[in-house]
Amino acid sequence: MEHTPIPMLDLKAQYARIKADVQAALLRVVESQHFINGPDIELLEQEVAQYCRAKHCIGVSSGSDALVVTLMALDIGHGDEVITTPYTFFATAGAIARLGARPVFVDIDPATFNIDSAGIGAKVTMRTKAIMPVHLFGQCADMDPILEVAAKHGLAVIEDAAQAIGAEYQGRRAGSMGTAGCYSFFPSKNLGGFGDGGAVVTNDSALADKIRLLRGHGSNPKYFHKVLGGNFRLDTIHAAVLRVKLPLLDSWSAARQQAAAHYTALFARSGLGDLVRTPKVVQARHIFNQYVVRCDDREGVREHLQKQKISTEVYYPQPMHLQECFSSLGHKNGEFPESERAALTTLALPMYPELTVAQRERVVRAIVGHYEGTGKLGRRLAA
Ligand SMILES: Cc1ncc(COP(=O)(O)O)c(C=O)c1O
Repeated sequence: MEHTPIPMLDLKAQYARIKADVQAALLRVVESQHFINGPDIELLEQEVAQYCRAKHCIGVSSGSDALVVTLMALDIGHGDEVITTPYTFFATAGAIARLGARPVFVDIDPATFNIDSAGIGAKVTMRTKAIMPVHLFGQCADMDPILEVAAKHGLAVIEDAAQAIGAEYQGRRAGSMGTAGCYSFFPSKNLGGFGDGGAVVTNDSALADKIRLLRGHGSNPKYFHKVLGGNFRLDTIHAAVLRVKLPLLDSWSAARQQAAAHYTALFARSGLGDLVRTPKVVQARHIFNQYVVRCDDREGVREHLQKQKISTEVYYPQPMHLQECFSSLGHKNGEFPESERAALTTLALPMYPELTVAQRERVVRAIVGHYEGTGKLGRRLAA
């Protein structure tokens, strides 16, 4: 049993529990042969808007496209600047740069891995159009100071809530606090579809209309193009699957929270001390899309776990300011030290609602085993 693989995520375990409902939903779409738009899209949009406590929701083709189409709707492009974090998935900064705008980075708060809100004001210039915080790993960024800076300078706030659907900040839901919020339904997200998908939510009716227009090549009526858009539609088949999953999302996120609390308790009792630092929960509702620790000798830990067939992942090994494709921004190593440190020390452990108590115990035991093997734990306990 010791060497049964523990994956980062086990979608088959989730599917086994909802198979009949998902298959019925898929069959309904297949029988209708209605693959584009239609009632499943409209109903999903209403249900997601309600879940995220926003007025409008627009289903789109991916989380990346949610960011792109929102920036397009806000007329952000060449010559503009958007303030964001260097420690995120590529799509955040990529969306800004793809439209010809400049991502302006502010380092992270090392406690949460989210943008350090205190550093944003100093980066605002005449060219700044928006702030794009990311609610990384499922915990909201510190939104009040961000919204305050934005209000002071008349900036839009686009929440990259791709990893944080259902997370809360002082009673407000991720994605609903700024000008718009962007979600991803990538299969590994807490609410994952059967392929790529995403959504934008907003309380601004004019912005919602514009995003809808842009989603369908800017045409209204059909074949009369008001603005230059793209094909950013969410497929009906994904919407049908997501509608089966959405009512279960809270129970899955609660199971993730329980798993996270258990991991943290196991580490607290492990004697590892600060060799492994567990995630800090500072906001009311962290939905643990990922459980990310910081550790000493990360690569050694990874290798040791891999030998025991325990998967881990590094989110993310290279911060945005050091990416080759952003070399024209002219950043150097050392400019955003907290992001750089995070890139060198963070390790995501297996996390999904069905992860068992025994699996979590095995993961922590294996990590303790690594430090015992290298002598570090013994030295630490002797000190
Ligand atoms: C923080 C963040 N932003 C944006 C995205 C992009 O979403 P997608 O993969 O659906 O395009 C992701 C997901 O992968 C993400 O984690």
